[in-house]
Parts: sequence; C-alpha cells; structure tokens
Amino acid sequence: MYDKIKNNMAKLEIKIYPDPVLRKKVKPVEKIGIDEQKLAYDMIETMRSAKGVGLAAPQIGVSKRIIIVEDIEGDNKVVLTLINPKITQKKGKVKFCEGCLSLPGISSDVVRPEFITVEAQNLDGDMLKINAEGLLARIIQHETDHLDGIVFIDRISFLKRKKIIKQLGAKVCMEF
Ligand code: NI
Repeated sequence: MYDKIKNNMAKLEIKIYPDPVLRKKVKPVEKIGIDEQKLAYDMIETMRSAKGVGLAAPQIGVSKRIIIVEDIEGDNKVVLTLINPKITQKKGKVKFCEGCLSLPGISSDVVRPEFITVEAQNLDGDMLKINAEGLLARIIQHETDHLDGIVFIDRISFLKRKKIIKQLGAKVCMEF
C-alpha cells in the first residue's frame, strides 16, 4: 500500500511568509492513518525538490503537527517524520545561520539550545525519543516552531527582524 503512495508523491506549493497559515498554532494529530502517510511522502517530495533540509506541514498549508527532517549527520541520509513532536529537554546555547523555504532569500544567525531531546510519534504511531545536537537539533527546533506559528525571524532581534520584514515587503505594523 505504501509503495503505491510512494509512486504518487506530489510536489506541493510552499506557502510564503506572511501567509496566515504560517501563524496558526496547530492541534495535535489524534489518529495516524493513510492521510498522514501520504502527506509525509508529499512533504518529502516537496522538500527535496526545493532543496530544503526540513519542512513542517503548515508550510504546505496543512494544519497538522507533522514535520519532516533530513538527518544528514547520520551515516545514511534519511528523512525522519515526526508527528506531534515535543521538545522535552534543552541544553546549551549556540548561534547558527538559518533560512526557511517560506522566507526565500532570507537568512540570519539564530541563537537556540545546542542539545535537545525530542519525543514524537512516527508514521506507525510508535513513540520515538531522539537526542539531537548540531544541525539535526537545529532543524528539529526550527520545524517544531512552525507548528506553533513561529518563524525563525521571530527569534532574532527586533531591529534585524524589522529590516528583514521590510525586505520581504510585508506590513511592519501588522507584526508587533
Ligand atoms: Ni522554516
């Protein structure tokens, strides 16, 4: 069954900031079924064709607590699908340059915890607990933020953010 879905993977349109869907706090997924499987595969296809390293469902206009994350630090390059991810532990602080497929052409240093523990379900509904650091920890935090309506520029200084928002042509007065 899943092979059939895999063969029908579709590239979806990525919502661009300030699309209101990116500002919604998303409710947890209660039942993991065929729709979530298909969504995850479509998200993988969409992320890969956009050359991203992570994607959250709201970025394709779907208000579900699902993120996909490219685990590029492992021996094999695998995509993790995390459903209802919850960051349960955070340690340290590190600065890292971030970008986002919903904010094309924009990047900025963002300070976030260096080490995290994330608990989530996979597509089979099994509980996962992942200790992550480096790029993986960074991507998981960035994508989990999307599920709460937070984009990375919310985590930088007011002045830098203002400059970026102007650059994006959004209405500054709507943002604060
Ligand atoms: Ni993003």
